[in-house]
Amino acid sequence: MKNIVILISGRGSNMEAIVRVAREQGWPCKIAAVISNRPDASGLAFAAEHSIPTVALFHKEFPSREAFDAALQREIDAFQPDLVVLAGFMRILTPGFVEHYAGRMLNIHPSLLPSFPGLATHRQALQAGVKVHGATVHFVTPDLDHGPIVAQACVPVLPDDSEESLAARVLEQEHLIYPQAVRSFVEGRLSLQNGVVRIAEPAEASAVI
Ligand code: GRF
Repeated sequence: MKNIVILISGRGSNMEAIVRVAREQGWPCKIAAVISNRPDASGLAFAAEHSIPTVALFHKEFPSREAFDAALQREIDAFQPDLVVLAGFMRILTPGFVEHYAGRMLNIHPSLLPSFPGLATHRQALQAGVKVHGATVHFVTPDLDHGPIVAQACVPVLPDDSEESLAARVLEQEHLIYPQAVRSFVEGRLSLQNGVVRIAEPAEASAVI
C-alpha cells in the first residue's frame, strides 16, 4: 500500500477525480491526507466528507517562503508519503522542498508544456493563436512547470473559445490523465530514473496484446 498526500489551494477538482477513481478502481494506495495552504479551500470539505484527514496551513501566517515550506514538509512527512500530488497547489516551492520529494512529487499544469508555463495559461494559448492546447502531468523539479513529462492530453482550440470554455475542455482531460498517472505510480509502473521518466503499461494491457 502506497501513501499519497495531495496538496490543494482551492476547489480541488483534480484531487476529487483522483480520490474517486482510486476508490472505484481499488488502487493499492491510501489517500493519507489532503493539505491546503488556504483554510477556505473548498476541496477540503470533499476530503473530510470522504474521511480523508485534512490539514490547512495558511501560508500568510509564516514569515517567509522557507518557513512555510519547512512547516509544510513536516505536516506532509507526518503521513509518510510515497507520493506527493500537487493538484491546483498555487505556490512556488523552495528548491530544498522540491529536492526532498525528488522523484516522488507530481504536478498537473493546464497547458502542453513546455508551452505556457506559469499563470493564465488559457489566455496565453488564445493570445498565441495555437490550434491545440491541453494539460501536462510532470514530475516536479526546482524549475517552475518544467519537470520531466509523464502524460499529456490535447484539446482543440475552437474559433469562438473564451478562456472559460477552453479551461473547461482542458479540465475534463486533466481529470482523466492525472488519475491515470497517479495510478501508474502507486502500481510501481512509473518512476524517474536519472531525470528520465520510465513508465510501463498496466499488466492487463500487455495481456491483451
Ligand atoms: C487546474 O487547471 C490545474 O491544472 C491548475 O489549477 C487548476 C486547479 O483546479 N494547476 P482544481 O483545484 O484541481 O479544480
